Amino acid sequence: MQNLSNAAKTAMQQAYAPYSNYSVGAAIIGSSGEVYSGCNVENAAYPLGNCAETSAIAAMIAAGEQQIKEVFVMTKGAKPGTPCGGCRQRLAEFADASVLVHCGLETGEVNTYTMGELLPHGFDLPDT
Ligand code: THU
Repeated sequence: MQNLSNAAKTAMQQAYAPYSNYSVGAAIIGSSGEVYSGCNVENAAYPLGNCAETSAIAAMIAAGEQQIKEVFVMTKGAKPGTPCGGCRQRLAEFADASVLVHCGLETGEVNTYTMGELLPHGFDLPDT
């Protein structure tokens, strides 16, 4: 997990968050073992900002991988932040319910959840 935590921290330090001043870094392990990371990228037109998880998923997909094995989300603040609702749905597109999602701070404080705990009863297309 240290490797993943370090990648999330490095990404968080690159965050572009001048409006919220809330930097977030996300790191994902793909099925190959490769680590993909991303940070939040805000915009003066607020709704156009991207979450860190979204950026990390895009890096994984662009590299040709589609299976998430583990996730680390690092935030600033007094306690670890958890992925927003939209990012839970985005992660669930590529992660099984058993995938671990670690949410931590630079201090080393970490809360770990499964994807299923974070998004029970998530949306999926019905079988046709
Ligand atoms: N943010 C993330 O990057 N990931 C989340 O799961 C929650 C929120 C970002 C979006 C925005 O740049 C800032 O945190 C404050 O909402």
